[in-house]
Amino acid sequence: MPGTPQILIASSEVWADTVAAFIHDLSEQAIQSNGRFLIALSGGSTPKTLYRVLASHEWKEKFDWSRILFFFGDERCVPPDHTDSNFRMAQAELFLPLVIQNDHIFRMKGDYQDPTLAAREYEATIRTVTGCSTPASPSLDLILLGLGDDGHTASLFPGTAALNERKTVVTVGQAPSGIRDRLTFTFDALNRAAVVLFLVTGNGKAERVRQILEPHSDADRSLPAAKVSPESGRLVWMLDQPAAGQLTRPKGKG
Ligand code: 6PG
Repeated sequence: MPGTPQILIASSEVWADTVAAFIHDLSEQAIQSNGRFLIALSGGSTPKTLYRVLASHEWKEKFDWSRILFFFGDERCVPPDHTDSNFRMAQAELFLPLVIQNDHIFRMKGDYQDPTLAAREYEATIRTVTGCSTPASPSLDLILLGLGDDGHTASLFPGTAALNERKTVVTVGQAPSGIRDRLTFTFDALNRAAVVLFLVTGNGKAERVRQILEPHSDADRSLPAAKVSPESGRLVWMLDQPAAGQLTRPKGKG
């Protein structure tokens, strides 16, 4: 039976450092156990603050970057140098400052003319790197996720076919606005992770956070982000205090 979410709340000032410490501990455990740490990065803008902290003088020396492999949980179907590319932001704020080797970065090919081909290729890549053959779903050590204003996560948007995809771990998503075509992990991929970590900040997300963590209705429970429920892994929400503002549980650092 999937466990209940672990909710960690930090002030906006220390939120990114709290996340960095959480990821550092996971990376140390994975490297000690398996010799490497497999992490999938989330998209959007929230992770930028975290990436800058990870690349800061205080944190960059703490990690064994040579043992960390970087994946993406979703990508917009644009070239890697496009302003909306999730890879572009990660490259600028994390990979280049930390001099991450290219063979440690597995980019979703949003630039392919055929997104379905890009999804199939990425699935094959993940299976090769993790040594996981079909039909099982590959498992990463950590998947970072964000929360959209409509309750989406990764590029799993309300009312889209990607929500029901069960045959693959990477599929083509459809956003209602902006860059419509996306590549995204499916729920099967997300729910096989050892740890899924939602990163949510700002009071603009507080109502959605409440709907997902303290649902009042079936509509709340049907939001895509509410469907992330690791089979045997951990589900953790790392909120800053504004994003946790509508939760009725005791506030404070988790
Ligand atoms: C994307 C994402 C998406 C994002 C949320 C939150 O590619 O946009 O993966 O799921 O994480 O929309 O985005 P913000 O961090 O910009 O609020």
